[in-house]
Parts: sequence; structure tokens; C-alpha cells
Amino acid sequence: MTYKIFNAIYLNKNTQKYATPCYLYDQQLLIDTILLAQNSCNKYFKDYNTKIHYAIKANNNLQLLSKIKQHNFGIDCVSGGEIKLALQAGFSGQDIVFAGVGKLDAEINLALEQNIYAFNCESEQEVEVINQLAQKAQKIARIMLRVNPDIDAMTHKNISTGKFDNKFGLSFSAIVKFLPQLRQLKNINLIGLHYHIGSQITNMQVFTNLSTIVVEHFKQLQQQGVTISDINLGGGLGIDYLNPQVNPIADFAAYFKALKASLDLPQTVNLHFELGRAIVAQCGILLSEVLFIKHTEGNNFAIINAGMNDLMRPALYGANHAMLVLNARQDYEKYHVVGPVCESTDVFACNLDLPKLGRGDKIAILSCGAYGHVLASTYNSRTICQEYII
Ligand code: LLP
Repeated sequence: MTYKIFNAIYLNKNTQKYATPCYLYDQQLLIDTILLAQNSCNKYFKDYNTKIHYAIKANNNLQLLSKIKQHNFGIDCVSGGEIKLALQAGFSGQDIVFAGVGKLDAEINLALEQNIYAFNCESEQEVEVINQLAQKAQKIARIMLRVNPDIDAMTHKNISTGKFDNKFGLSFSAIVKFLPQLRQLKNINLIGLHYHIGSQITNMQVFTNLSTIVVEHFKQLQQQGVTISDINLGGGLGIDYLNPQVNPIADFAAYFKALKASLDLPQTVNLHFELGRAIVAQCGILLSEVLFIKHTEGNNFAIINAGMNDLMRPALYGANHAMLVLNARQDYEKYHVVGPVCESTDVFACNLDLPKLGRGDKIAILSCGAYGHVLASTYNSRTICQEYII
């Protein structure tokens, strides 16, 4: 099936009414992705109670959120703002898990008020503060402790989170050391452990390695007399940025299979996953238009009206996004595709073979549904562009 978002003729015909740059989302592709994620999870973990919490940081568009909610997802939030948006989209407190190394008191209070499913805690001091605030609010806070397992996610260093050099989580030995203190905190209920070791992970062995460590930790806690009811395995499943048209849906089967391979836990344990990118990335594009073509010494620049303020990923992580030119020209030329922002890193592609471009030609930058619009800024006093569902 070819989705509208990858269909140049459809896009050219049906998107004239939208001013560029803008984000467009293909609802059908989102729904097909959601269904496949759920089915694969149910297939590999059919004997467990499971919940996929969509990582709202990837895309917080309310219309997309309510579609995700309708399909029984929970939600992974990292700020009070995200919690409020999740509630607005119809998620309940019980659907919410709340991570982040620097939770504000006001955010903790909001989460307590909403009786969220669990705080994913990242430091001892944070747990103590949650205990104090829970005491004031006369609540018992359910928490999971985020473990930093010191494993290599084999992804870009800027999106790796599971090594000791990263600020995230606590080492397992620090957690064991913290247990006696934790037992004294009357308004804290430790229900589980949380892991998230990185994003855009494409080597499935990484997930099997993670599960092996999770099982070790679970058993070691049992030996300490601590039986937990929940394990949160985080997110991180990567997508195909090079060939989105060939692989419009992430390989959920491979992901859940890899996790399952070594996840030897009792079936009474509730399992949580926090997928962001794999759910929404491929259903979104950034639609832009060529402003000018500039030929300089040995270089051919196509200057488009979308910039790094609209899509930060290339400038932040050297990310490559495939492109679809909506004109129907048959002759090709090599271009550096760049934005209008006054920064040398405002570059979307270098020496890319594209159908010959002219002013006004539309270019769709693909795989922009995750970490696209949410990262947009007003840098250079540009406006944040609109989003539309098709
Ligand atoms: N859980 C936690 C605790 C996270 O920090 C993240 C993402 C996720 C789940 C979802 O990960 P995903 O399934 O989307 O890989 N801006 C970067 C990605 C940053 C990811 C941050 N954390 C990018 O554009 O590549």
C-alpha cells in the first residue's frame, strides 16, 4: 500500500491550500502503525499484562494524540506541560508514566493530583522530594526507579541515554544501596524498575541485551526481599530514514521478539513500553518550497523555505531525511538542500541527486512525524509552522 504521504502526485494535487512550510500527517499510516505495534506486542507477550505508553515528546499534536488514545495506549510524559496535553487528549491519570531527571515541585504536585500510574524516578533526592510532597497531599506515590544499566545502545551519541556518562537514571548498585532509605519513605510505593537506553536503535541485539540485564536486576531485588510488580522497558525502536517508502512501518515484530528472547520474568509482572519515534515518525512530512537556486564555485544550492527552526534533527544529530520532489521532471541534478536560517548547520542534504529544481517547486522532507514539529523554534524570529492531518 502506498500512503498519501509518500505519493508525490497526491501531495501536489491536494496540498496547494496549505502555506509552506508545514507539517502534514497521514492518519491512515498512523493507524496502521498503531495496530501493528499492538498486534506485535500482544503476539510476543500474550501471557503478560502489557501497556505501550506513547512517548508524547515525539509529537504532541492533539489530533494524533486522541487517535493514539483511542487505541488503548498509555502515555509517557516528561513535563507538566505534557501531562496537561495528555489529559486534554483524553488520557487519564492511570495512563500516565512520568519520567525526567529534573521534575519541578509543581509538576510533581500535578502528577500526584492526577494519581498517575507511576513516577519514573531518576535520583535518590527526587524520590525524597516526591515523598515529602506526597505526604503533604496525603497520597502514596507509585514509583519506578530508572536504572542506568551502562549499556551501549549503538546509536548516535546524542541520543544514547543508558551509559554511566549520561545524566539519566541510577546505577543498579546505587539503587540497592538506596533500598533501606527507601523503605523509610512512608508515602512512596516502589512498584518497579524503568529502563530507557536510547533512541533510533536499529540493532535488535541491543534489546535482547537489555532484557538479559533486566532479568538479572529483577532477581537481585528479589534476593534483597523486594518483589516488584512492574517493569518498564522504555522505547528506542528505530525507523528506516533512508527508505521510508519501502519500510513505512517500523519493525515491531523484530523489536518485541528481541525483547522477549531473554525476558524470563514471571507472568504476573506488568510490562510497559514507551515507544515514540516508531509510532509517529513515518506518518509525517515537512512540506517546503524552493525559494532560490544558487550555483556557486562547484556547489549547487537549493534554498528552501523550511529551515532548521522547523526541523532541527539534521542540525542537531546530523540526521538524514529522505526527500520527495513533487515536480515531475525527469532530468536530475545534485543539490545541497539548505534552509534560510542564518546558520551554517541549516542544511538538510548534501550533494543529493534530485529532479531538476526551480523556484516554487515543492519538496517533502520525509520521516518528520517524530521530533519534528515539537522541536521547532522561533529562531531568527520565524513563525512556528502549521500542522495538518490528511
Ligand atoms: N522513554 C524515555 C524516558 C525517553 O526519554 C524517550 C525519548 C522515549 C521513551 C521515546 O524514545 P523513542 O521510542 O522515540 O526512541 N530528539 C531525538 C530523540 C530524543 C529521544 C528522547 N527520549 C531525535 O530526534 O532523534
